[in-house]
Amino acid sequence: MRLPSLSLLSAAASVVFGFRLPAPGNPEYQSLALKDRALRARQSRVTDSTVEQQRAAAVKDAFTFAWNGYFTTCKGQDELEPVTNTCTNPRNNWGASAVDALSTALVMGSQPIVTDILDYIATIDYTTTATEVILFETTIRYMAGMLSGYDLLEGPLSNLTTNASAVDTLLAQSKSLADSLSFAFNTSSGIPSNHLYFTNQTNDGATTNGLADIGTLCLEWQHLSDLTGDPSYGDLAQKAETYLLNPLPESNEPFPGLVGTNVNISNGVFLDATGGWNGGDDSFYEYLIKMYVYDSSRYSNYSDRWIMAADSTIKYLTSNPASRPDLTFLASYVNTTFVNSSEHLTCFDGGNFLLGGSVLGRQDYIDFGLALVNGCHDLYNSTLTGIGPEIFSWNTTGVDSTNEAFYHANGFYITDPLYDLRPEVMESFYYAYRITGNTMYQDWAWNAFVAINATTRVGQGFSAISDVDAANGGSFDNVQESFLFAEVMKYSYLIHAPDSIFQVASNGTKNQFVFNTEAHPLKVFGPPV
Ligand SMILES: *[C@@H]1O[C@H](CO)[C@@H](O)[C@H](O)[C@H]1NC(C)=O
Ligand SMILES: *[C@@H]1O[C@H](CO)[C@@H](O)[C@H](O)[C@H]1NC(C)=O
Ligand SMILES: *[C@@H]1O[C@H](CO)[C@@H](O)[C@H](O)[C@H]1NC(C)=O
Ligand SMILES: *[C@@H]1O[C@H](CO)[C@@H](O)[C@H](O)[C@H]1NC(C)=O
Ligand SMILES: *[C@@H]1O[C@H](CO)[C@@H](O)[C@H](O)[C@H]1NC(C)=O
Ligand SMILES: *[C@@H]1O[C@H](CO)[C@@H](O)[C@H](O)[C@H]1NC(C)=O
Ligand SMILES: *[C@@H]1O[C@H](CO)[C@@H](O)[C@H](O)[C@H]1NC(C)=O
Ligand SMILES: *[C@@H]1O[C@H](CO)[C@@H](O)[C@H](O)[C@H]1NC(C)=O
Ligand SMILES: *[C@@H]1O[C@H](CO)[C@@H](O)[C@H](O)[C@H]1NC(C)=O
Ligand SMILES: *[C@@H]1O[C@H](CO)[C@@H](O)[C@H](O)[C@H]1NC(C)=O
Ligand SMILES: *[C@@H]1O[C@H](CO)[C@@H](O)[C@H](O)[C@H]1NC(C)=O
Ligand SMILES: *[C@@H]1O[C@H](CO)[C@@H](O)[C@H](O)[C@H]1NC(C)=O
Repeated sequence: MRLPSLSLLSAAASVVFGFRLPAPGNPEYQSLALKDRALRARQSRVTDSTVEQQRAAAVKDAFTFAWNGYFTTCKGQDELEPVTNTCTNPRNNWGASAVDALSTALVMGSQPIVTDILDYIATIDYTTTATEVILFETTIRYMAGMLSGYDLLEGPLSNLTTNASAVDTLLAQSKSLADSLSFAFNTSSGIPSNHLYFTNQTNDGATTNGLADIGTLCLEWQHLSDLTGDPSYGDLAQKAETYLLNPLPESNEPFPGLVGTNVNISNGVFLDATGGWNGGDDSFYEYLIKMYVYDSSRYSNYSDRWIMAADSTIKYLTSNPASRPDLTFLASYVNTTFVNSSEHLTCFDGGNFLLGGSVLGRQDYIDFGLALVNGCHDLYNSTLTGIGPEIFSWNTTGVDSTNEAFYHANGFYITDPLYDLRPEVMESFYYAYRITGNTMYQDWAWNAFVAINATTRVGQGFSAISDVDAANGGSFDNVQESFLFAEVMKYSYLIHAPDSIFQVASNGTKNQFVFNTEAHPLKVFGPPV
């Protein structure tokens, strides 16, 4: 049986002890009083800091285990393939897992790992690679990983190294990487190409780029400018962003603030009106509010667009499945036609609404964010493994004898059952806990972490699995993306870790850091909000 949410239990309890007290002999009284006692017992257990410490320590153990497996076998390469204990280089052989792990090792205070990564980063040559470079991935993983390391080591975690030159190297390497990438923006509109070849300074010839690929550069490139004093990096990303903030033609903004996906690289014009918060579009919306958190004095254009998008999302994309109207998912759209399907990737949405609501002082966005978090928890709570699927649907047209019972019980059915070690559900649990203080979200995160650890752990690491609703996750896909280190481990840890300046601000305090889309905390530049 599904438990009602804590807020419902609290409401029920206040009825018991406040206004409408049934007689003590009444079964309703017994049931509500029991629920309330369980609730209070649970709260006192979870707020007990030793439970938090044990959970944080268990996550740190899992991170250290995976780090040792990767570094022993694949030092200098991008990823460990944990089933075969071999290495693979989908990220240009610059050591993606190490760079992505740095900010997590820092927030966990793992000094030996930090030292190993700093020594390694100094040896990377970002100026050359024979393989195709993806601007978006390289920016969010490598550039942000190093800039975050720089911010944390120059700031609150300066005690984790005594090697000042290693810290300076992080910034120098970020600049070297950006200098190598910047030819991507050399197009007639300034919209970058996403697929690049360093050897001949060309690209794959694509005539379009996607919304998220264009709109998830501004935070990192602007921060590099703000740290180096050279405005050229930020200017490149901001120029590309102007086309997204002032979209043309009007018909490809089917709802105010909600735009299409593919943009013509030669003139910056949107080519369709298909979109929403799914993969491909997702982090464009995410960064609209994060730019405002980064510098509220410079980026109110961005928050204005986020507010338009958020209001339209609540008004048009809110979707309550017919079999479980208590759940909230986000539909996507093709022009103004809705599609009742969503993704694990989309589950960052709850956290993003919570962040927006918290910095703008908008309880309605916070409440909507919590409804989305609750829907994404249902994905995890409904499967055999306790982990949510890659893609799911609540389109009644697709309900058949194979998925009918599942759909009726859970409000969705699985259309792609794999789990790729994605972080978005954990990420939204993290924002929900930081912003409400409700320990239920810590419990949800812990259950998810235990399930991920139990199902995906293999060899010297963790692997993507083929089926979240099969015993033992079906089979191992032998893939350990670097975001396991950057995101899954970090959010799983920080939700139980002591408060600190780099954590997302709790209700009533202000954000000194903002997490990029790969969970690398970057120091805010403007007046904190
Ligand atoms: C570094 O500083 C942080 C924050 O003050 C503290 O929690 C941590 O214990 C320190 N770590 C080391 C290795 O000194
Ligand atoms: C400091 O870091 C640099 C890499 O930036 C490394 O080459 C050097 O050996 C380190 N120095 C010490 C004393 O560890
Ligand atoms: C930009 O592209 C033009 C040709 O389209 C080329 O002449 C110029 O050198 C390029 N500039 C940079 C900085 O790559
Ligand atoms: C540039 O290099 C890439 C990768 O080596 C190659 O596929 C592409 O055809 C080259 N483009 C040009 C214009 O030479
Ligand atoms: C932000 O808004 C200001 C004032 O409306 C405008 O001048 C500026 O071009 C806008 N910036 C972008 C990136 O659209
Ligand atoms: C992209 O814009 C150019 C003009 O700059 C135009 O020639 C081309 O047809 C456009 N592409 C599409 C697919 O509309
Ligand atoms: C969306 O609308 C445009 C014009 O309003 C139309 O040309 C296009 O075919 C529509 N796209 C789809 C997928 O229906
Ligand atoms: C449901 O799926 C059908 C195809 O099976 C599709 O035509 C329809 O547009 C979908 N509707 C929604 C709301 O997802
Ligand atoms: C579903 O959630 C409940 C309450 O949080 C929990 O007891 C149960 O173990 C969860 N089930 C799964 C499969 O995660
Ligand atoms: C899509 O979801 C909406 C609820 O938001 C529902 O009204 C509609 O019937 C659903 N359509 C299909 C085809 O499942
Ligand atoms: C934030 O704090 C204020 C004042 O204490 C309180 O009224 C509000 O409910 C809190 N919001 C959340 C989401 O906890
Ligand atoms: C993770 O899995 C390992 C190996 O089975 C186990 O020793 C450890 O206790 C697990 N951690 C958690 C938090 O479940």
